[in-house]
Amino acid sequence: MKTKILQILKQTGNIISGEELSSQLGVSRVTIWKHIKTLQELGYEISTSSKGYSLSDDNDFLYSWEFPGREALVHYYDSLPSTMDAARKLARKGSPDQSVVIAQSQKKGRGRMQRKWFSKQGGLYFTLILRPPIPAVSGFLVNFITSSVLAETIREETGLKAMVKWPNDILLNDRKLSGMLSEMEAEEEMVTFVNIGIGLNVNNDPAQDEPTATSIARELGHPIHRRSLLINFLDRLAAKLANDNLESAVQQWKQYTMTIGRQVKIVTTKGTTEGKAVDIDESGALLLELQDGTVEKVIYGDCFHL
Ligand code: BTN
Repeated sequence: MKTKILQILKQTGNIISGEELSSQLGVSRVTIWKHIKTLQELGYEISTSSKGYSLSDDNDFLYSWEFPGREALVHYYDSLPSTMDAARKLARKGSPDQSVVIAQSQKKGRGRMQRKWFSKQGGLYFTLILRPPIPAVSGFLVNFITSSVLAETIREETGLKAMVKWPNDILLNDRKLSGMLSEMEAEEEMVTFVNIGIGLNVNNDPAQDEPTATSIARELGHPIHRRSLLINFLDRLAAKLANDNLESAVQQWKQYTMTIGRQVKIVTTKGTTEGKAVDIDESGALLLELQDGTVEKVIYGDCFHL
């Protein structure tokens, strides 16, 4: 009912009487009034007058009903410890491919290498449940496709030159804009699900907590519509996953990277190595040329551009 009322208010774009709403929806005016009250409590700016109801401007809510065609796939929460945990539970229970868990803020947002991911209001924090029919050894390709699609989407939506840093960070002017964390489960060598968690600084200012991070609003000087960006990203990714051969994922990712050719520092649990990032191989590993000319294959770690 809430969705239908919102739809009518949006279509009307003007004042609509309670009587008109109740006759269009076949419910009493009291029922309409109760739903309007709930919508107002959810944050919708609906003004009420003796003539009826009107909805002001477009909002940037991330409620499931604001994703037409995807309502059943979107799981929205005002706050969660981490979308990763909620998504893992849903994936294990059989939630379909391209389900997405969104939180307006996270209390225990996780980053790679046991780091914390600060998740204040204004950013986009979500985990996608993907079920590509691929062997587990190829699961990493999904991360590469996802980060290229995210870079493409940010470029299209904002005009900013988003670049990817190995393995899956998105940078703007060398500052971190987005990070990605993935979890995979497999059965008999085939992927059951790959959950991709994305933290994207949109209208929040992450620099207070992470001095080397940035956000879209910071770079543009004004906030943007998060939901449009997210819908564009989900649409593009769905199309890519439906039509593309994942084998070219690393190749596509290379178009957007600024890591290759750079002097980098790699930090792993085993220690720190410095060298020149010469390429990314077909397994997604970073090929690092050390000072003595030998090339080392780096499978996992934090990469810092020097
Ligand atoms: C990183 O760069 O270290 C990865 C950051 C991933 C953060 C996202 S926010 C949504 C999802 N939920 C989490 O707890 N983490 C990921």
